[in-house]
Amino acid sequence: MRILGIETSCDETAAAVVDDGARIASSVVASQEHLHSKYGGVVPEIACRAHVEAITPIIDEALERAGTALGQLDAIAVTTCPGLIGSLLIGLAAAKTLSWLLGLPLAAVNHIYAHLYAPALDEPLPYPVCGLIASGGHTILLRADSPIAVEVLGTTTDDAAGEAFDKAAAVLGLGYPGGPLIDQAARTGDPTAIRFPRTLLEPHSLDFSFSGIKTAVLYHCMGQNARGRHDVPPPPPEAVPDIAASFQEAVVDVLVTKSLRAVDRCGARTLVVGGGVACNSRLRAKLAEAADAEGIALRFAPPALCTDNAAMVAGLAEHLLAAGRVAGPDVTAVSHLPFSRAPRTAKKKAKT
Ligand code: KG4
Ligand code: ZN
Repeated sequence: MRILGIETSCDETAAAVVDDGARIASSVVASQEHLHSKYGGVVPEIACRAHVEAITPIIDEALERAGTALGQLDAIAVTTCPGLIGSLLIGLAAAKTLSWLLGLPLAAVNHIYAHLYAPALDEPLPYPVCGLIASGGHTILLRADSPIAVEVLGTTTDDAAGEAFDKAAAVLGLGYPGGPLIDQAARTGDPTAIRFPRTLLEPHSLDFSFSGIKTAVLYHCMGQNARGRHDVPPPPPEAVPDIAASFQEAVVDVLVTKSLRAVDRCGARTLVVGGGVACNSRLRAKLAEAADAEGIALRFAPPALCTDNAAMVAGLAEHLLAAGRVAGPDVTAVSHLPFSRAPRTAKKKAKT
């Protein structure tokens, strides 16, 4: 099947053509980073308007690069959850229109499950797999028995990991998006210079909390006497690498600890890592080291497929449609993640 995928869940307008759930004929991503950078985060109203302007040209470009006419498509796929509701609705309106006009089946794709599927565009995944998806909006641990049989093991109780990177980078005066800038600044810093907190929550929890570490960075930069102030000037440039490296080390430690815990809990021997934070060089190095020591196979999507894209959406849609999961005309967008969650206590009891 030749599927056109559409992705507009956050601040990237993306379209892709994928054959048989695996071969990427084209993948086009228009980033809105330049529109949001001065605000230090994604502004939903601006994102929505930018999607309206970009969606038709991006779909046209994806079709043209794939050398495909609309009449040669077999199906349309679109992200319907989770994400910014206004942004999701732009992609969904475009997908429904094409599906109706062309008389093609429509697949409604979960963005997080699509991130988990992304490495399969490179090489098939050996199911069952455990997954860590860490981005600006989500930090989630999952178990998948197939591309479409997925359950959530844990999620963030407050900020996402990428959001913590973005907020810490703002405090350090590095700019937006913060993840790549902290990654870069940390290269010359000492990760043991400052001991930032590693919030692991209760002993067996697979949930995350990253709001405390961002505040710890702010307090560190303010000094103890200035608590409560938020107009903190950035630290002197020579102090930034150590703070960046120490912050990054703390976030990475938590992500690695919980990922290994999740692999242990769900019984899979492959860990799939995706989302923008999966581009982080320290996370890749520490996970590789830990996975090697534990005999766990590690699968990262290539960097262009770690961040938001529509190829992962079109790829996963192949499996949804093969299972008969065709979306009806009343399908709608949902901002939250409608997940099935594994029982939290199952393994805990077995261990004690
Ligand atoms: O998956 P993504 O492109 O979009 C969302 O769905 O959010 O992820 C973007 C997030 C941003 O918070 C960005 O700062 C973070 O991923 N990110 C990184 C790195 N590259 C991107 N975080 C840490 N290290 C990186 N190298
Ligand atoms: Zn994403």
